[in-house]
Amino acid sequence: IHNLTEAAGGNYRCEVSGEAPVFKTSSDSALLIVVDLPDEQPRIIEDGVGPYRLQQLITVNCTSHGARPAPNLTFYINDESVDPTWDSRELVFVNETSGLETAVKSLQFPLRLTMVQLDGLQVKCVASIPEMYWLSSETTLSVELPHNYSHLFGSQGSVSYSSSQKTATHTPLLSTLVFLASRLLW
Ligand SMILES: *[C@@H]1O[C@H](CO)[C@@H](O)[C@H](O)[C@H]1NC(C)=O
Ligand SMILES: *[C@@H]1O[C@H](CO)[C@@H](O)[C@H](O)[C@H]1NC(C)=O
Ligand SMILES: *[C@@H]1O[C@H](CO)[C@@H](O)[C@H](O)[C@H]1NC(C)=O
Ligand SMILES: *[C@@H]1O[C@H](CO)[C@@H](O)[C@H](O)[C@H]1NC(C)=O
Ligand SMILES: *[C@@H]1O[C@H](CO)[C@@H](O)[C@H](O)[C@H]1NC(C)=O
Repeated sequence: IHNLTEAAGGNYRCEVSGEAPVFKTSSDSALLIVVDLPDEQPRIIEDGVGPYRLQQLITVNCTSHGARPAPNLTFYINDESVDPTWDSRELVFVNETSGLETAVKSLQFPLRLTMVQLDGLQVKCVASIPEMYWLSSETTLSVELPHNYSHLFGSQGSVSYSSSQKTATHTPLLSTLVFLASRLLW
């Protein structure tokens, strides 16, 4: 199949037939799934401005653009899974022109002391399509603690950290379009 498009996806069947006089036939079929991977790494957007204070409600969004099907988005705080009640449902918007999907998910949580690390509070978002695609972004949120907490984090009276965004890639041998399981047997 050249110039693969979504339309090429579906069930493929191959039939083999013998000659006269028996005309014995045999066939098998397999499903071909066509996936269009996201255009870019997931993006994390803070819905607010740091530095954040203890107990403050923090909201961040994660967006993955231009894929079909839309990847699953998963949040991590300091590399740990988040409380399921902090996650919103994943929303998927379809671009009517391109047919591609954009996934958006929000994370909302109260800032707790146990989340604060020396290098700030790390939020990560992973966009994944099982067995095909895995890409993550992370951001470090700045935190400001009251003065009497300073002994927990060294000599400074308050802890302020700058924001930065990093990307990690882990996409084996994949370009924009990926085939799955085209298996034809006699
Ligand atoms: C695939 O598409 C490209 C650009 O649209 C075109 O130049 C090329 O000839 C096509 N190849 C085949 C095998 O159809
Ligand atoms: C975050 O996503 C929600 C939808 O889940 C949207 O209503 C809100 O405007 C978004 N905020 C930002 C800062 O993108
Ligand atoms: C939808 O896709 C088209 C074609 O790729 C693009 O030009 C347009 O900006 C997209 N619309 C939105 C709202 O992203
Ligand atoms: C997202 O995850 C659900 C279950 O966790 C799974 O059924 C679904 O196929 C996944 N979708 C994509 C696009 O990865
Ligand atoms: C800091 O002071 C506040 C009240 O002023 C108190 O509730 C809190 O427990 C103190 N924290 C530490 C680590 O001493």
